[in-house]
Amino acid sequence: MNTLNNYIEGQKERFLEELIDLLKIPSISADSKYSGDVVRTAEVVAKRLTEAGADNVELCETKGYPIVYGEKILDANLPTVLVYGHYDVQPPDPLDLWDSPPFEPVIKDEKIYARGACDDKGQMYMHVKAFEAMMKTNTLTCNVKFMIEGEEEVGSDNLELFVKSNKEKLKADIILISDTAIIANDIPSITVGLRGMSYVEVEVTGPNRDLHSGVYGGAVGNPINILSKMIASMFDENNHITIPGFYDDVVDLTDDERAALNSAPFSLEEYKDDLEVGAVYGEDGYTTIERTSTRPTLDVNGIWGGYIGEGAKTVLPSKAYAKISMRLVPNQSSDKITELFTKHFESIAPKSVKVKVTPHHGGEPLVIPTNFKAYQAASRAMEDTFGKTPIPVRGGGSIPIVALFEKELGLKSILMGFGLDSDAIHSPNEHYGIFNYFKGIETIPLFYKYFSEN
Ligand code: BES
Ligand code: MN
Ligand code: MN
Repeated sequence: MNTLNNYIEGQKERFLEELIDLLKIPSISADSKYSGDVVRTAEVVAKRLTEAGADNVELCETKGYPIVYGEKILDANLPTVLVYGHYDVQPPDPLDLWDSPPFEPVIKDEKIYARGACDDKGQMYMHVKAFEAMMKTNTLTCNVKFMIEGEEEVGSDNLELFVKSNKEKLKADIILISDTAIIANDIPSITVGLRGMSYVEVEVTGPNRDLHSGVYGGAVGNPINILSKMIASMFDENNHITIPGFYDDVVDLTDDERAALNSAPFSLEEYKDDLEVGAVYGEDGYTTIERTSTRPTLDVNGIWGGYIGEGAKTVLPSKAYAKISMRLVPNQSSDKITELFTKHFESIAPKSVKVKVTPHHGGEPLVIPTNFKAYQAASRAMEDTFGKTPIPVRGGGSIPIVALFEKELGLKSILMGFGLDSDAIHSPNEHYGIFNYFKGIETIPLFYKYFSEN
């Protein structure tokens, strides 16, 4: 075994303990109650970066949460890798579905259970530890910059401003990100696409006040009934989205591209078993792989209104609400889709209600090529540590800032993630395999090595 791997081997216990410490801090960016904890997490990440050997580590203040920056510039003539990750996490709700408290990490069956274990503290921290190992064994072969943000789960608005106004500071040759998944622990893959996003909140108002559903029911439009109907009408009998123009900019894949996509290992039976569903559900004419990667979607993330307390209250509510996300694919534009949705939603509302559409964050879709040096470096690195060539796959999730990196910094990203779809990110009992954590720490230095080679 070489010095680098020896070093990692010797430090495994500490590497794990440090991650566990990080996971104990509830850095929930969406909930302002936790703002102190989010900032504290940034401070811990900064401290750990310094200890690992990074120079000029700072908390870059923004209007929201700070961005942790650090660097190691060995030689201006060497290539520079810009590592991006996020230290914020999703809210842990619903709490009662967790087997152990979300911010009291436990190790069970070789996995760490905690909110953020995989998304993205565990994956982000692999980079800090891989960097430490390279520094301590004198094996770093290129320059590194770290940019770890605390608002990814809420749309990265402030990172967007930071990127636009710090182009010199962020000068690099490639961006390296671990915030995605592999197909399985024995089937490595590299994510070569992300979906974009348009996220809106809708409010439907009926009568000016809540009404007795006996006195008025049947004669006044019930906003919850109407909202449900409006949402249902946004799909036709083939589960195509009915918003006019929605698919206009979608780039259809060629038959060859579709065949390649569908040749990735996938078992529909296992998929259904895992989710305990009798059948999958989606747009006619497309496979599950396509439905979750190269096709756009519309999903209600939450819907509420009226009485939801104990027992039964008879009420015809004044208002109904829903949060709706649309996942986008090349070449759809987030702003355009938000506009199409808004126009359509307003146009299908009956006169008995008023509607209001409020856009939340958005992000553009992207595809990453496989025929360039950085992809090949990542592929070789994973091949070395997994013993198999990774399969390029298009991911269904979104990391909106990645398209912005390309637009503003002119840099491509490598999405070399080590999670699994079954890690329950954003769900109760999120976890991250210890195998995956150390596989990441071992693979990252090889990426640097191959990327630095002439
Ligand atoms: N790490 C995820 C994105 C992801 C997960 C990509 C799995 C590919 C596979 C990221 O933290 C995330 O959750 N993104 C959000 C978007 C954001 C605007 C809230 C998402 O995809 O819902
Ligand atoms: Mn993430
Ligand atoms: Mn996430």
